[in-house]
Amino acid sequence: MPLRQLSLNQFRNLSSTTLEFDSHLNIFEGKNASGKTSLLEAIHIVCEGQSFRTHHLKQCIRHNQDDFLLFGKFSDHQVGISKTQEQRIIKINGQITARRSELVLFSPVRMINTDSLDIVMGKPSMKREFIDWCLFHVEPSYPDLWKQHGHALKQKNALLKTKTDDHQIDYWNEYLLDYNLRISRYRKDFLSRLKNILFSELNNLMDYERITFTYEPGWDINKSLSDIYRIQRQREIKYGYSLYGIHRDNIHISQDGIPVQHCLSRGQLKKLSVALLIAQVILVNRETGKPVIILVDDLSSELDSVSVSKILEVLRILNAQIFLTFIKYSDHPVKGDQEVKWFHVEHGIIKPVKNV
Ligand SMILES: Nc1ncnc2c1ncn2[C@@H]1O[C@H](COP(=O)(O)OP(=O)(O)OP(=O)(O)O)[C@@H](O)[C@H]1O
Ligand SMILES: [Mg+2]
Repeated sequence: MPLRQLSLNQFRNLSSTTLEFDSHLNIFEGKNASGKTSLLEAIHIVCEGQSFRTHHLKQCIRHNQDDFLLFGKFSDHQVGISKTQEQRIIKINGQITARRSELVLFSPVRMINTDSLDIVMGKPSMKREFIDWCLFHVEPSYPDLWKQHGHALKQKNALLKTKTDDHQIDYWNEYLLDYNLRISRYRKDFLSRLKNILFSELNNLMDYERITFTYEPGWDINKSLSDIYRIQRQREIKYGYSLYGIHRDNIHISQDGIPVQHCLSRGQLKKLSVALLIAQVILVNRETGKPVIILVDDLSSELDSVSVSKILEVLRILNAQIFLTFIKYSDHPVKGDQEVKWFHVEHGIIKPVKNV
């Protein structure tokens, strides 16, 4: 749901203020170190309860202060987040919630920055995270399934760690068999839906003809997983952790059979990762009706102006609320008659401006 208003208090270098946003397009311009990424970070935190820059929210507390406070008014709910050195409190519509996942389901948010490259060239765990984010939003049973799988895997690994052949391993294997097959089906199906969107709706961003996306499950799919569990039991005990399952899934992205990170340029890799993220946003919006919030930090890094313009054109027509930062926005004019809200950021002070 669109974020209408954000209040910032003692957050990084940003001056305490309340900002009103456009429900579609918001652009922040400012020099290095003015506070642009910090502003996107604050928006990310009111959407998901966590930062995209750090796992330690206390780093966001303004230096020499005790806490920060963020308050976001979305179209259909309100979120308050406070963080002291010791404690984080999340309030949704005035009620304290202990579960961050509740917040995540309210307001899907995606970040486009230099780290987005991890989707195409990062570790398999980053690719799994990319898939799971989407499934979390579009498949109502997925959050529970994912949690149950995590619990069963933890229990099995604890038994394997003792390196003894405990009959309880079979107990957890039975659950894991079911969870693995279901999650694997969801992930495989998700990738094919994502590819459809990429090829049919985002082909103006880049040419994907020679690119293949292959879902590779974390076990040999020509064999049954229950057979693998049985045959490889001693091996799993020897290693002391589970060797087969969706926790080892990967997505191979290649061009003419060569992994993309070894044959595409940085700019092409960035465009590919941005295209995948946008495809994901389209999918979530289409299947849940929720408009996604997209945070785009310094799009022009690693991209030429033609590529930046193409991406901006695609973003403009999405049913999403977009927050863009630029060091100098006049280099990349946003065309069209669409409403845009402009902000200038300087030494942590964010001010709306009338014209560019
Ligand atoms: N906890 C904090 N308290 C106060 N200032 C901080 C804190 N954390 C970071 N800063 C400072 O905030 C400033 C703004 O950082 P930010 O990354 O938001 O800048 P930016 O506008 O995105 O810059 P760039 O264009 O270089 O990416 C930096 O000078 C940084 O050192
Ligand atoms: Mg920045």
